[in-house]
Amino acid sequence: MKHSEIVQWLRETDPARLARLWREADLARQRHVGGDIHLRGLIELSNHCVRLCGYCGLRAANAKVRRYRMTEDEILDCAHSAVELGYGTVVLQSGEDPGVDADWMTRVIRRIKAETPLAVTLSLGERSDDELAAWREAGADRYLLRFETSNRALYQRIHPPRNGARSDRLAILATLRRLGYEIGSGVMIGIPGQSYDDLARDIELFAAIGLDMIGVGPYLVHPETPLADPLEHPPLAEDRQVPNSELMTYKVVALARLACPRANIPATTALATLNSRTGRELGLERGANVIMPNLTPPEYRADYEIYPDKACITETAEDCGRCVQRRIESIGRTVGAGRGDSPSYVGRHDP
Ligand code: 5AD
Ligand code: FES
Repeated sequence: MKHSEIVQWLRETDPARLARLWREADLARQRHVGGDIHLRGLIELSNHCVRLCGYCGLRAANAKVRRYRMTEDEILDCAHSAVELGYGTVVLQSGEDPGVDADWMTRVIRRIKAETPLAVTLSLGERSDDELAAWREAGADRYLLRFETSNRALYQRIHPPRNGARSDRLAILATLRRLGYEIGSGVMIGIPGQSYDDLARDIELFAAIGLDMIGVGPYLVHPETPLADPLEHPPLAEDRQVPNSELMTYKVVALARLACPRANIPATTALATLNSRTGRELGLERGANVIMPNLTPPEYRADYEIYPDKACITETAEDCGRCVQRRIESIGRTVGAGRGDSPSYVGRHDP
């Protein structure tokens, strides 16, 4: 699809034409990754963070967050619940936390791989090449690192460097690929200052990188962050600024599916936060094929507040398991068995 066509879809408002986009994305999903929905159990293992991302509630400067770091045994308990609930993967996510050190994390990964058949996905921020290599060696299968926006100037505005070193998430994604990880990335939709052209380029970049996993969700304002201040981070003029809406999120999910037909694409928690009733179901009918039910122990959930009013704050792991099962059945789809590796990754490694 040409750049101008992507922009046109992003600007489309006609329901009949949009219905065509949903249908094409759904067909591509069925043809390339099938009807199964893969479940990834999310373990938010630490909310400590040394970074100052302008949009994120966990940023180091937010003193209102009660910080926690789970113990090795707590994480292993969550991993065992994942197996009991029938999930094939756990996603270990945290802020950028030096307390999650290389050796400790290596031990956690090794134990999960020794005690369960789970695929292990890491989402631990921008870590050193040595750490990424050690964790891959320990058995980690996949890594998620969103590039957030392909607009470099905007990225730098919302994502201050650490220790003077400008972050280059695309370089880290290249390293992850070289290390043999299945790689995932994505963007936020409707960041103040994000234009339709920017967002179209984001989608083109998904395809250029050849992502195995693509996570996209609406940008949600967190009041304790700099991006909440429209004077500091003004939106573009109305005809250029991408809205952080539910509809725009479906468009990006659908276009991501068409750009990367074999990728695994979740219906994200941020989407569920905008529409808790049918957001995820509609995502799954417009290109998505993955859900990430939360496994974080209830006593920590509310403290992992990347953005406010996050879905599933009071539910237990079992609640979320039952809930997603019911939602999947309600749209006539099935839960995928096994690890749910991306066909694009498998194709590269097992030609
Ligand atoms: N709104 C929406 N998504 C957010 N993320 C972080 N903060 C927010 C927010 N305020 C997303 C980022 C990050 C992922 C883990 O969560 O894209 O990469
Ligand atoms: Fe958590 Fe529905 S997925 S309650």
